[in-house]
Amino acid sequence: MILKELELAQYRNFERVQVHFDAPIVLFVGPNAQGKTNMLESIYVLAMAKSHRTSKDKELIKWEEPFARLSCRADRRTGPVHLDIQLTSKGKKAKINQLEQRRLSDYIGAINAVMFAPEDLSIVKGSPVIRRRFLDMEIGQVSKSYLYHILQYQKLIQQRNLAMKELQMGKPFGDMLDIYNAQMAHLAAKVLNKRFGFMDKLERWGQEIHAQITQGRETLTLSYESTLPVTPDMSESEAEEAAYRHLTSIKDREIARGTSLAGPHRDDIHFFINGTSVHQYGSQGQQRTTALSLKLAEIELIHQEVGEYPLLLLDDVLSELDADRQSHLLHNIKDRVQTFVTTTGVEGLYHQTLQQAAIYRVKQGTITRDI
Ligand SMILES: Nc1ncnc2c1ncn2[C@@H]1O[C@H](COP(=O)(O)OP(=O)(O)OP(=O)(O)O)[C@@H](O)[C@H]1O
Ligand SMILES: [Mg+2]
Repeated sequence: MILKELELAQYRNFERVQVHFDAPIVLFVGPNAQGKTNMLESIYVLAMAKSHRTSKDKELIKWEEPFARLSCRADRRTGPVHLDIQLTSKGKKAKINQLEQRRLSDYIGAINAVMFAPEDLSIVKGSPVIRRRFLDMEIGQVSKSYLYHILQYQKLIQQRNLAMKELQMGKPFGDMLDIYNAQMAHLAAKVLNKRFGFMDKLERWGQEIHAQITQGRETLTLSYESTLPVTPDMSESEAEEAAYRHLTSIKDREIARGTSLAGPHRDDIHFFINGTSVHQYGSQGQQRTTALSLKLAEIELIHQEVGEYPLLLLDDVLSELDADRQSHLLHNIKDRVQTFVTTTGVEGLYHQTLQQAAIYRVKQGTITRDI
């Protein structure tokens, strides 16, 4: 897919900008704190209906202003699409081709985007919360049913945790907990089914790409660590049954702790290079290569699932990669993936692909194209 036009009003430090794109590689160039990341973020928000940096939509609205508006026009294989997002302190509205989407899950996926930013290293290094968020965002982008089920699941966990607190304090609850457990097992089985499938594909693509980048020296493997006794070979109904049985068996422990101890909201994923944990033992470079392999794998995965390549958003990462990895990355995306890159200067970027890039200068919330 190709992004043709982007329009922002009162978004972050942009009062009002309208930008046209016609190149496969777009460089946003400018000194620090001018709005380069904000530009990329706005494209991400149009794809995912939320930011990659913050869960507080209010931060996206220009200070002192009551609302922000983002819109774009993109060409997809199926035709042009026009997207609109309006943010106020009360909430957001999202439109596809002028039609308001009642549920955000109906909106997400209208265009696809993969962001690769310095903080993505935390997918490898950071806490399990970040990895679960990675799973949810990326699977949600290609599966509306996953988005729907994970949202239901998260709501249920909140209610169930409240119930656990009440039980902990000795309040009578009848067979309410059984009902929660049945609902939870049902949703957990659906969520896990999709996560296992995603992990499998991510590993297949990631392994191939990682081997290419490291010239066959490193083998990347992934594993999913489930807190429920559910495995990828189980059918959905077997998974549901196993989850339900387990929840019943840990009931007393959960009540004593006053919270939900097992389920997809507690799971984690792990990355290994040649069988050794990247999180624990990986060098900086290996961690970075792992994160890069995962992102490139995602691009292929989205291509496979939706039938066309997503937009690629590279925030400050190109200059961080050494010559080999830079050229591998650019070789990989060349002519296939429309890519938006931020950088403070064009000096460190020597690859010929970048010499064909369209350069946009970002300065204090304004944007001008080099001719
Ligand atoms: N809601 C907002 N309203 C107004 N200005 C904002 C808002 N949010 C962020 N900013 C400002 O936007 C400026 C530009 O931020 P951005 O992260 O896009 O910079 P950048 O060009 O990517 O810089 P760097 O090269 O350091 O990464 C920041 O100085 C920040 O103060
Ligand atoms: Mg930045």
